[in-house]
Amino acid sequence: MSTQFLAPVIAEEEQEIEQTLRPRRLDEFVGQERVKEQLAIALTAAQARGEALDHVLLVGPPGLGKTSLAFIIREELGVGIRTVAGPALERKGDMAAILTALDQRDVLFVDEIHRLNRAIEEILYPALEDFRLDIVVGQAFTLVGATTRTGLLTTPLRDRFGMTFRLEYYEPAELATIVHRSARILDVEIVDDAAEEIARRSRGTPRIANRILRRVRDVAQVRHQGAITTAVAAEALELLEVDQAGLERTDRELLRTIAGKFEGGPVGLSTLAVSLGEEPDTIEDVYEPFLLQLGFIQRTPRGRTITKLGRAHVGTTPDHEPKLF
Ligand SMILES: Nc1ncnc2c1ncn2[C@@H]1O[C@H](COP(=O)(O)OP(=O)(O)O)[C@@H](O)[C@H]1O
Ligand SMILES: [Mg+2]
Repeated sequence: MSTQFLAPVIAEEEQEIEQTLRPRRLDEFVGQERVKEQLAIALTAAQARGEALDHVLLVGPPGLGKTSLAFIIREELGVGIRTVAGPALERKGDMAAILTALDQRDVLFVDEIHRLNRAIEEILYPALEDFRLDIVVGQAFTLVGATTRTGLLTTPLRDRFGMTFRLEYYEPAELATIVHRSARILDVEIVDDAAEEIARRSRGTPRIANRILRRVRDVAQVRHQGAITTAVAAEALELLEVDQAGLERTDRELLRTIAGKFEGGPVGLSTLAVSLGEEPDTIEDVYEPFLLQLGFIQRTPRGRTITKLGRAHVGTTPDHEPKLF
């Protein structure tokens, strides 16, 4: 397991709080304007025809709102929802049972749909084809699938979605709006500057913005009068060691290791992993995506290298920890 506080994947203990913070209706869902516009039209049209909504594929990195959108779709349609995680389905019978239990026009939400077992996926095909005719299942239904990359899906499955929506990383202003909204729900006061500061460090990801907000709220409660002022936010972010770019101590350690110990690279993944005392998978899945996105590191055939930008961020001397404020 990663020790990273800012890993965008949902943590076990986070499930409940996410429920409370989740937008319920389309107009509460911040940003992703194109997606909302297209979805709103499709929802209205399906409602007007009294048909099930066409199958929807939601694509994007963790924490950007895929699960939220699936529940919004069901809310807007006023139907029931069945949620399953792709890897959790083991036998063909599991899927058959789920399909027969669906009510008219229900939503079937399959998270991590790329991890669905192939034999189970095949059970779905005829049901998906005839979703309007409701011959196979007996009920018309809408499949909402969520995945991180469309390339992970088989072509026959991908072809059966009538709509594909790609979620993009959020702008700081949108994240600030989300932070304000969450603060209202959590019943904590926050000034604009503080919300913007949290937004800037949240890696474009609402889940991370909410996570930082909750930790900042703790600091505000325990050490101060409860309200999140600019000073309280700055103090909390320093305590959490989240810097201006949204990096944590472990991210900076990785950059410094490549820059110092490996003289800028290239260094192979497994060598780097040993040096940091981490699993190679953790480095690849948790640390690297954001560092790559920032252009702080590069992946080359011979290994990882640090870029000029990356060097500039951590400074050139290996153990120099930059002042955060
Ligand atoms: N567009 C948005 N507007 C407001 N809050 C959002 C938005 N997208 C995500 N969130 C917040 O982030 C959390 C994580 O979103 P989620 O839908 O679970 O992401 P995913 O399923 O893509 O990993 C939600 O609980 C919600 O509070
Ligand atoms: Mg999700």
